[in-house]
Amino acid sequence: MKHVCLGLLFFTACLHSLCAALPNFVLLFADDLGFGDLGCFGHPVSLTPNLDRLAAGGLRFTDFYSTSPVCSPSRASLLTGRYQTRSGIYPGVLYPGSIGGLPLNETTIAEVLKPMGYATAAIGKWHLGFGAKGKFLPTKQGFDHYLGIPYSHDMGPCWNLTCFPPDVKCFGLCDAGTVLVPLMHNEIIKQQPANFLELEKAYSDFATDFISTSAQKKQPFFLYYPSHHTHYPQYAGVDAAGKSLRGPYGDALLEFDNTIGNLMKTLEKTGVINNTLVFFTSDNGPELMRMSRGGSAGLLKCGKGTTYEGGMREPAIAYWPGTIRPGVTHEMASTLDILPTFANLAGAKLPQVTLDGVDMTSLLVNRGKSERNTMMFYPTDPNEMYGLFALRMGKYKAHFYTRGATHSGTTPDKDCPVFAVLKAHDPPLLFDLETDPSENYPLPLIGRPDLKAVLEKIQKVKAQLEATMVFGESQVDKGTDPSLAPCCNPECQQKPKCCQC
Ligand SMILES: *[C@@H]1O[C@H](CO)[C@@H](O)[C@H](O)[C@H]1NC(C)=O
Ligand SMILES: *[C@@H]1O[C@H](CO)[C@@H](O)[C@H](O)[C@H]1NC(C)=O
Ligand SMILES: *[C@@H]1O[C@H](CO)[C@@H](O)[C@H](O)[C@H]1NC(C)=O
Repeated sequence: MKHVCLGLLFFTACLHSLCAALPNFVLLFADDLGFGDLGCFGHPVSLTPNLDRLAAGGLRFTDFYSTSPVCSPSRASLLTGRYQTRSGIYPGVLYPGSIGGLPLNETTIAEVLKPMGYATAAIGKWHLGFGAKGKFLPTKQGFDHYLGIPYSHDMGPCWNLTCFPPDVKCFGLCDAGTVLVPLMHNEIIKQQPANFLELEKAYSDFATDFISTSAQKKQPFFLYYPSHHTHYPQYAGVDAAGKSLRGPYGDALLEFDNTIGNLMKTLEKTGVINNTLVFFTSDNGPELMRMSRGGSAGLLKCGKGTTYEGGMREPAIAYWPGTIRPGVTHEMASTLDILPTFANLAGAKLPQVTLDGVDMTSLLVNRGKSERNTMMFYPTDPNEMYGLFALRMGKYKAHFYTRGATHSGTTPDKDCPVFAVLKAHDPPLLFDLETDPSENYPLPLIGRPDLKAVLEKIQKVKAQLEATMVFGESQVDKGTDPSLAPCCNPECQQKPKCCQC
């Protein structure tokens, strides 16, 4: 008995001294923000001084991919290091009354880090399910603390809500047939509808407090901030409204950037900045159907909802002063690679499941080669019959199927809107993404045995990858039960717990 106690004590003490040396992680995830939306990625008028500072002092990726051109699947992959097909987060996205959610037996980054003594918090847009009595909330997936709207902030009627001061109503109707969007603290509804004008201050204060408390306790921490901001309907409080030259999208982006500035200041003030990896990227491409209120894919083709580059290639920045040298990398990397990288840096165990991510440590710290040579492109509605829509191998990308999307409507490119119906390509359309990142000029195969060989190799790799892909049961196809939606208003059955505010 005595022996066991001593052993435990020793273990705790070890863990504690180890803890002081473990790096902290701040993971920033933008919403519907495209390759061309940041100042540091070439947007002429976006005002993103803090992200630009991270880019100037950190590593900027030019070839970084999310795994899906829509929200929920992209988030599932980010947090699990696995393609969304495995966890069943398809087709499309989850809704307030969805019966399914990210299965609780999936291991998130938070759950990977917790055994190493990490404090964990999420703020903002979860969108991996709510479920009966909130059983899929972040607090059930390894996060000690959560403050946020648990899905997209347009998933509720918004025509009567204020998006900009003093009382500019949100643009459009949003989703009429469900409850007003709630602001949740852990598993309790704090406010319904959420007050968009004060939301960012609440997030910023919550995150600042979390960093300060963890730093004081010398506890390593993981902060995950998936922001709602640049998603429709854009909103901003007094400090950002009207302050950018870019209208509602620019103001929303500026408000997100302001919070990033607050977080950086807090990391500096608490003395942990040199021991913290800050990583920024986005969930999917811009929602072009919102026209000038939507984001920009820059020179990339189409946007949200499509498997063209504009749907899934994202801006990304890794910042860690003293450890990551400032610069630009053209190596291929993905949101899938974040879990294995954080796990390695924290000395944490990888989950015993098929992972699709690779460790980026050498790429980040030594500017080494990426271990990633391929990227799979699944559509919003993946299924085993069609398989991959596209595959990138090295600099080449082959499209087996192409299709436009409602989300990518309104641009002059006829391939982007929903009217561009599903088209099979045999032989596949082949592009060289280095000389033609815009996917404008399919490579002619006639008289080019070298390119035919490339295609054959791609077909082989595709067959190998697809052979390892076990589709998880679809969580979205479990359907919705409107009575599951979180509610603390008199019009509905109150659940989970209401407004202790
Ligand atoms: C989670 O449980 C489901 C249902 O039992 C199973 O099919 C799936 O493979 C499990 N996933 C993991 C990652 O263990
Ligand atoms: C919108 O708000 C106004 C004022 O608060 C209220 O009178 C009106 O009924 C609301 N309209 C809808 C459709 O909810
Ligand atoms: C971080 O490292 C830089 C460069 O070595 C140093 O100037 C700075 O004081 C350090 N900051 C903190 C908070 O330790």
